[in-house]
Amino acid sequence: MSLKCAIQLGIPDAIHGHGPNPMPLSLLVSTLQLHSNKTQFIYRLMRLLTHSGFFVVQEEGYILTNSSRLLLKNNPCAVSPFLLSMLDSTIVEPWQFLSTWFQTDDRTPFETAHGKPFWEYMGNMPKDGDAFNAGMASDARLVMSVLLEKHKDVFEGVGSVVDVGGGTGTMAKAIAKAFPQIECSVLDLPQVVADLKTDIPNFKYVQGDMFNAIPPADALLLKWILHDWSDEECVKILKNCKAAITSNDYKGKVMVIDMVVGNKKEEDSMETQLFFDMLMMTLPGGKEREETEWVELIKEAGFSTYKIFPIMGIRSLIEIYP
Ligand SMILES: C[S@@+](CC[C@H](N)C(=O)[O-])C[C@H]1O[C@@H](n2cnc3c(N)ncnc32)[C@H](O)[C@@H]1O
Repeated sequence: MSLKCAIQLGIPDAIHGHGPNPMPLSLLVSTLQLHSNKTQFIYRLMRLLTHSGFFVVQEEGYILTNSSRLLLKNNPCAVSPFLLSMLDSTIVEPWQFLSTWFQTDDRTPFETAHGKPFWEYMGNMPKDGDAFNAGMASDARLVMSVLLEKHKDVFEGVGSVVDVGGGTGTMAKAIAKAFPQIECSVLDLPQVVADLKTDIPNFKYVQGDMFNAIPPADALLLKWILHDWSDEECVKILKNCKAAITSNDYKGKVMVIDMVVGNKKEEDSMETQLFFDMLMMTLPGGKEREETEWVELIKEAGFSTYKIFPIMGIRSLIEIYP
């Protein structure tokens, strides 16, 4: 919440705008739009955020760190929309109902709080839905930039890609631009894609439900999809993916971008993975999975082999082959 406040007050951009030299507190305070009674409190906010590694104090002024550079407005990989959407009151409210949920038959704490399943609610509340989609798009930009920079070869030989649950199309558009020979589509719910247009020739939006059918392609991309769903639902989605794969050689595959719990040994990332798991339990009713749990889903859906490539921090690409 302190970080959300710092973003909303424009603190990372103010420090960035000051240039390469450390920005003294007095200057930071005078640059921000604050009530005169509140200027005294900025020091305490900055003290916490410095302790958490978002800023560094040097020569009695503040400078940015790699983490806060990811919050700058003009950074093409900025993740502030993701952070703001995850700390929006609609998303935070269900945590108040976690214990109630444990004692009732409700499917998720989100439903206990808001009376509707996550995706139905987001589809009916344009303001919340737009903020959520913008948050997802910012994460997709970051992940895609890493994928295209460091793992471009995963698209080698692939003729077509469907980004299943691809939201507003950030990933698929980036693939379409980087590989003009690949036909790219985004499959998502009508409320997300019905009004979206594109002028990229090898890219299109498809409205639909991945539980019914998935358009045919060599490669099916599922980024941050399977962790939203229960094991039974994931098996259904994966079976639909298998039926949609058009190519039987090495090009035909499902590309899952999600986390593999316990795959990275550092304490910090384990805590993040476990928090994400709780978030999935609280919002859409999904879960984060360990490798053995992924293997069970993969086998149950009728696939033969898989490979895990750690791509970025806690995120992995799991390639699944028919
Ligand atoms: C967590 S978001 C991930 C978006 C995108 N893949 C990304 O990582 O940026 C999940 C997406 O799944 C979509 N979705 C939910 N239920 C769906 C369904 N039954 N069929 C197709 N898409 C669905 C949502 O609208 C949302 O865009």
